[in-house]
Amino acid sequence: MHPILGVGTLLFALGAAYRPQCRYLPGDVQWPRQKLWDRLNATVDGRLIATAPLASVCHDPQYNETACAVLQEWWSWARYHENSPTSVMTPWFQDQECSPYTSVSTPCQLGNLVAYSINVSSAADVQAGVKFTRENNVRLVIKNTGHDYMGKSTGQGGLGLWMHNLNAIEVLSDYSSPSYHGPALKLGAGEATVQALELPGGFTQGGGHSILSSQYGLGADQVVEWEVVTATGVHLIASPSQNTDLYWALSGGGPGTYGVVISMTVRAHSDAGVVGGASLSLSSTGLAPSIYWGAIRQWHEMLLPMTNAGATVNYLVTSSALTVEAITLVNGTADDIHTLLQPFLVYLNRSNVTQAAYTVNTTTSTDFLSHYLRYFGPLPDGAFATAQLIGGRLLMTLVQNITVSTPFYVVGFAANLSITASRSPVASNAVLPAWRDTGVSLILPSVWNFTLPRSVEVQRELQLTEKLEPQLRKLTPGSGGYLNEANFMLRTWKEDFYGANYDRLRAIKKKYDPEDLFYALTAVGSDAWTVADNGRMCRS
Ligand SMILES: Cc1cc2nc3c(=O)[nH]c(=O)nc-3n(C[C@H](O)[C@H](O)[C@H](O)COP(=O)(O)OP(=O)(O)OC[C@H]3O[C@@H](n4cnc5c(N)ncnc54)[C@H](O)[C@@H]3O)c2cc1C
Ligand SMILES: *[C@@H]1O[C@H](CO)[C@@H](O)[C@H](O)[C@H]1NC(C)=O
Ligand SMILES: *[C@@H]1O[C@H](CO)[C@@H](O)[C@H](O)[C@H]1NC(C)=O
Ligand SMILES: *[C@@H]1O[C@H](CO)[C@@H](O)[C@H](O)[C@H]1NC(C)=O
Ligand SMILES: *[C@@H]1O[C@H](CO)[C@@H](O)[C@H](O)[C@H]1NC(C)=O
Ligand SMILES: *[C@@H]1O[C@H](CO)[C@@H](O)[C@H](O)[C@H]1NC(C)=O
Ligand SMILES: *[C@@H]1O[C@H](CO)[C@@H](O)[C@H](O)[C@H]1NC(C)=O
Ligand SMILES: *[C@@H]1O[C@H](CO)[C@@H](O)[C@H](O)[C@H]1NC(C)=O
Ligand SMILES: *[C@@H]1O[C@H](CO)[C@@H](O)[C@H](O)[C@H]1NC(C)=O
Ligand SMILES: *[C@@H]1O[C@H](CO)[C@@H](O)[C@H](O)[C@H]1NC(C)=O
Ligand SMILES: *[C@@H]1O[C@H](CO)[C@@H](O)[C@H](O)[C@H]1NC(C)=O
Repeated sequence: MHPILGVGTLLFALGAAYRPQCRYLPGDVQWPRQKLWDRLNATVDGRLIATAPLASVCHDPQYNETACAVLQEWWSWARYHENSPTSVMTPWFQDQECSPYTSVSTPCQLGNLVAYSINVSSAADVQAGVKFTRENNVRLVIKNTGHDYMGKSTGQGGLGLWMHNLNAIEVLSDYSSPSYHGPALKLGAGEATVQALELPGGFTQGGGHSILSSQYGLGADQVVEWEVVTATGVHLIASPSQNTDLYWALSGGGPGTYGVVISMTVRAHSDAGVVGGASLSLSSTGLAPSIYWGAIRQWHEMLLPMTNAGATVNYLVTSSALTVEAITLVNGTADDIHTLLQPFLVYLNRSNVTQAAYTVNTTTSTDFLSHYLRYFGPLPDGAFATAQLIGGRLLMTLVQNITVSTPFYVVGFAANLSITASRSPVASNAVLPAWRDTGVSLILPSVWNFTLPRSVEVQRELQLTEKLEPQLRKLTPGSGGYLNEANFMLRTWKEDFYGANYDRLRAIKKKYDPEDLFYALTAVGSDAWTVADNGRMCRS
């Protein structure tokens, strides 16, 4: 008899069967010991980072006046968050316990950020991270740029996989598969250049709309294959001919929940030559409200004819102005755009709106990149800040009341995404079906004010969730919401973000991630977990 061995075996057996209800957090007795972290670090060739909040430089003991001032200046922009292993851009999910706007003596804590992060350089690094979190019951978080509005790329006490430096681009001039033959680009998961425009992280997995959408469809429609590491550590290819269910789910079914993308290969479109562009702004100053809002309604009636003619339109409405940031018409000229805008200009004229109230500029760019830089540059920061609260809905009716009587404004994206020869997806995919017959996606942002107490923003978030969104939903029955640009508190997320695809997506998630290792708020299967206010994540 070997009683000692017997006891050991029994304990081992119990250990294997025992599944803790909650992920461990730093400070828990079960939190992995230093030795284990060191071993993980050795496995990933020293690429494990013990994280610190970006804003530590704004607080004792690391206070640095210069560095803190720079951070305050740039906090609402992508640049510093994008290049940090931990930081995210949406203020709601940023570390409230280490803000650049609180006093120097306020202690700085990790709060909602991951505790460690692997600066991923290979599929093997991802496999090591996945294995470590599974074996040690630590929350796993995947972060690329940190653009996500729903807090999906951060998580208290987690181990982060920071994908942003996995950014090689390979040009495949003669890619060949049963579903596509032609030029393609293989993009590392962290690739974020605009030239490529289809970005492998959350953008494409969630659908991905761009100023080329009326011409070529969504980002997810361009993917010919995904290179993936699954929750069980398997490194595989998902394409229309291999692991086809995973390919379908990753192409539009939402990021961060089916597997970790190492790279994706997309169709390359040759530059179609000239690009027509326009910007327009109309001020409400001096106009009777009925005239201004009449013009806004007319603008929305203009959108379908414009998108049906192949244009993609990005615009913004507040109670004081309509700002059309860009109209993009691939293979078009300034004259073509002028023709498209003509009915609107005639309408303004008939409403006695003089040229003092608006300006229109139309352009012809010789290639796509010059068009892009003209309307959305300069790189790397682009034209738009990131600090917002946000809610979204794909719809046609504009609600004037919201912009007049609340701090929310309206950002519109108009494109025709119905499937045609030029817009056909590589293969069937999990893009929300409502996208295909929607003319406009509207989102309702409000600018986050860092100088006001958080409670003010909490009130706004509740106003958005409880008052505004139910009204928008009622006006747009059967439509949906864009899962990458929506309100994280939306209770109807399954239906709105995934529609009829949800059950199939859930089954695919179960197949590739049987223990729900991947979690991201509002992602398919995320209701398997609940994250408490203190950051502890437990099985529901
Ligand atoms: C200023 C701004 C402008 C935007 N403009 C547009 C736009 O024009 N069109 C549009 O469609 N969307 C737009 N978005 C939304 C954008 O698509 C989403 O925020 C998207 O999730 C960003 O993906 P990311 O990987 O860069 O960000 P992250 O926040 O790093 O990641 C987002 C999600 O993807 C997951 N993820 C990241 N990398 C991987 C990977 N390698 N494998 C698996 N999961 C991964 C993360 O876990 C997370 O769930 C915009 C957002 C902002 C803030
Ligand atoms: C991981 O190893 C590298 C190289 O040895 C070291 O610089 C780094 O601090 C280590 N990371 C952690 C979290 O210990
Ligand atoms: C403070 O920050 C600035 C700018 O990042 C840097 O150049 C400087 O070396 C820092 N000073 C100290 C004492 O760390
Ligand atoms: C992450 O790795 C890249 C190389 O892949 C390196 O250039 C970069 O400095 C690293 N960043 C950090 C914060 O360790
Ligand atoms: C551009 O437009 C012209 C005329 O409208 C058409 O003949 C041509 O095929 C188009 N080119 C592309 C690349 O779409
Ligand atoms: C149009 O161009 C003029 C001159 O460059 C500029 O002042 C104006 O702001 C532009 N208007 C729009 C709507 O872009
Ligand atoms: C425009 O002005 C003319 C002449 O002053 C007036 O007859 C007409 O009613 C006005 N139209 C609108 C829409 O206000
Ligand atoms: C409308 O257009 C006509 C003809 O070009 C012009 O005479 C008139 O002044 C315009 N009206 C306004 C309000 O600009
Ligand atoms: C807009 O506000 C008016 C006046 O407060 C109200 O009567 C109307 O129902 C509102 N409309 C919508 C769509 O909310
Ligand atoms: C998009 O275009 C197609 C044909 O190209 C058309 O049938 C469809 O009605 C358009 N969609 C919308 C929302 O206008
Ligand atoms: C933020 O709030 C302060 C205090 O009410 C106000 O003075 C400031 O203009 C606000 N900033 C923005 C960007 O709304």
